[in-house]
Amino acid sequence: MLISSKDLLLTARAGGFAIPHFNFWDEISARTHVAAAEQKHVPILLAWAQKHEADISIDEALNLGKFYGAQAKVPIVLHLDHGFSPDLVKYGVNHGFTSVMIDASAEKFDKNVAMTKDVVDYAHQRGVVVEAEIGHVGTGLSEDDANQYTEVEAAVEFVKRTQVDSLAVSIGTSHGVYKSAKTPHLNFERLSELRKAVPIPLVLHGGSSSGDDNLNKAARLGITKVNIYTDLANAALHEAQAQKYASVLKMIEAEQDAIKSLDEHYIDVFDTVKLNQVETATALGAL
Ligand code: 13P
Ligand code: ZN
Repeated sequence: MLISSKDLLLTARAGGFAIPHFNFWDEISARTHVAAAEQKHVPILLAWAQKHEADISIDEALNLGKFYGAQAKVPIVLHLDHGFSPDLVKYGVNHGFTSVMIDASAEKFDKNVAMTKDVVDYAHQRGVVVEAEIGHVGTGLSEDDANQYTEVEAAVEFVKRTQVDSLAVSIGTSHGVYKSAKTPHLNFERLSELRKAVPIPLVLHGGSSSGDDNLNKAARLGITKVNIYTDLANAALHEAQAQKYASVLKMIEAEQDAIKSLDEHYIDVFDTVKLNQVETATALGAL
């Protein structure tokens, strides 16, 4: 079943755990993420990023996401990740994504506000939630470069002006592998300040190679969703290559096994299973 991320992220915020956001880049990765979610009995965000459109178009991603999402035994959020073009994001809203991200974080503050607000107004009228980013999370940075932390006051102002549903913040992670190949230092103090001041769920990009302890702590301190892509793609490639003299079916199997076990690992790291405890407690009237 496909659902919105709205209640999931709010519940995660209250419960001190995070929902996994796994990017898919083909049919194998899409179906394997859903299999991992089913295995662990937790919902996930199944995400397609605009930067992958040369390899997998938005229409292909929508078809795959809707197909695997509809038959999943757990709720799935079909999410459009890093939408740089408002027109493309609006197309996604109209064609089946249940959650979208407009990423104008490389723009100046006022332009980021204007672009985000435009998409929020459009998406909300159509029942779709929106994520935006403030304080740019870069790519392939060294530990020292990833320190353009999101300012608390700017984040509060941004949320007030845009009415966005969730906010990606910069606290020391970076997309892809870290240049220094060291586990980054995350600014948990800033995260706690943001959690206290910003009234909506906070989310974290650049989860790969950021350290399990760091990610678990971030979830406990207020990160409600963690985006993972590079670790999954690298593991799939590595394991498939190890089977290259066997058969194509062995390569696919190896790719699936690698993705699934890493997905399950991250689900454990994020304490996502706590969601089921909250839901059980709610159903029993304990909360
Ligand atoms: P990584 O590739 O570092 O895991 O980042 C994923 C991400 O932020 C997708 O939006
Ligand atoms: Zn990202």
